[in-house]
Amino acid sequence: SAQSTPDGTTIDNNCSSEKYADVNWDELGFSMTETDFMYVMKCSIGENFDEGSIIPYGNIQLSPCSTLVNYGQGLFEGLKAYRKEDGKIQLFRPDQNALRMKAGAERLCMPSPSIGKFVDAVKQTVLANKRWVPPMGKGSLYVRPLLMGMGAALGLGPSPEYMFLVFASPVGDYYNKGRKPMNLLVEDKHRRASPGGTGGIKTVANYSPVLSAQARAKAQGFSDVLFLDAAMGKYVEEVSACNIFAVKGDVISTPQITCGTILPGITRKSIIEIALALGYKVEERLVPVEELLDADEVFCTGTAVVVTPVGSVTHQGKRVEYKEQGETVCHKLYETLTGIQTGRIEDKMGWMV
Ligand code: COI
Repeated sequence: SAQSTPDGTTIDNNCSSEKYADVNWDELGFSMTETDFMYVMKCSIGENFDEGSIIPYGNIQLSPCSTLVNYGQGLFEGLKAYRKEDGKIQLFRPDQNALRMKAGAERLCMPSPSIGKFVDAVKQTVLANKRWVPPMGKGSLYVRPLLMGMGAALGLGPSPEYMFLVFASPVGDYYNKGRKPMNLLVEDKHRRASPGGTGGIKTVANYSPVLSAQARAKAQGFSDVLFLDAAMGKYVEEVSACNIFAVKGDVISTPQITCGTILPGITRKSIIEIALALGYKVEERLVPVEELLDADEVFCTGTAVVVTPVGSVTHQGKRVEYKEQGETVCHKLYETLTGIQTGRIEDKMGWMV
C-alpha cells in the first residue's frame, strides 16, 4: 500500500509492509531492521544546510573520492525513542546528541546542523517511522544521525559537500536477550584512543580500530574488550561501544573525560546525575585497572547497552567475577534510568522530549 510522507510524497511500501509483519516484537536484538523513512539535509561548504526532508529509507550516493570513505570525515550519533504506556512516544535528551555532534564537527572540520535543526530532524524521523517504535517494555526505536563528507578531495582536505542523515531501527538488548552480564577481556596490545586524538568525539573512525581486538576476545568466548590508556596501559578507558563504571561500597568511579580519550556518553552523564540524586558518591578520575579488579560491582553504560552489568573481567590471565544478582547498584540505576525513559518514573530532570 502507498504511504504518504510528511512532505506529501508517497512511496509504495508493500515491501516494508511485509517486513513490518515479520517483526517479532518479543525477540528484538540490536540489529538493523529497515524502517520506512529517513531524513536527509545537505550543504556545500560556505553555505547553509538546505531545508532537509523526509524521504523513503534507501541507499545514498557519494563520490568514490569522498572524504568520508577516503579520510574518515564522518560522525555518527545514537539515541532512542521510547513508547510510553499511553502509546505516546518520547526521546531521551536529543539536544545532548546535537551538542556532541557539533563538537565532533568542529574537530573534523565539518559544518553541523544547529541544535534546533538536529532535534527537529530526529523528531521528524521518529514520527515518520512511528509504527516501528516497539510497544512499551519490548525495546525502543534506535535513531542514528550521521554527518558525512560526501564530496571529493583527493589531496587531504575537508569535503566541499556534506550530508546530515537520520535513520532508525527498532532494537532490543545489545548483548544478550535479557541483559545478561558481559564478560570482558582487558586488551593489552591495541589502544582505542590517545591524548589529543579523537577518542572523545563520535567519529566513525573510532570504531573499526576496535574490531580485531573484539574479534579475538569473542573467539575466546568473551562478550567484548576493555581498553586501557595509551600512554601507560595502566588505567581503564572504555569498552568498544560503551563507558565503564566500578562500584566499591557507596562510591561509584568512572574514567574522567579530560584529554579527549573517553567518549562523553549521554547515558554516562545521566547515570552520574541519577547516582548523585540517589545518594551515591561519584568520582570521575583515573581508574587503575587493579581498582576495577577489586571492585564490588562493574557495569557499562551507553545508548545501545543502556546499563549492562559486567559479570567478569579478565586481565593478564586473571579472571575476577562480580556481584550481579539481587539489589545491585547497577540494577537500581538501570531501573531509574529506564523508568524515566519509558515514563514509569516522573522525569524530574526534564530530560524527555
Ligand atoms: C551507542 O550506544 O549509541 C553507540 O553508538 C554504540 C554503537 C557503536 C553500537
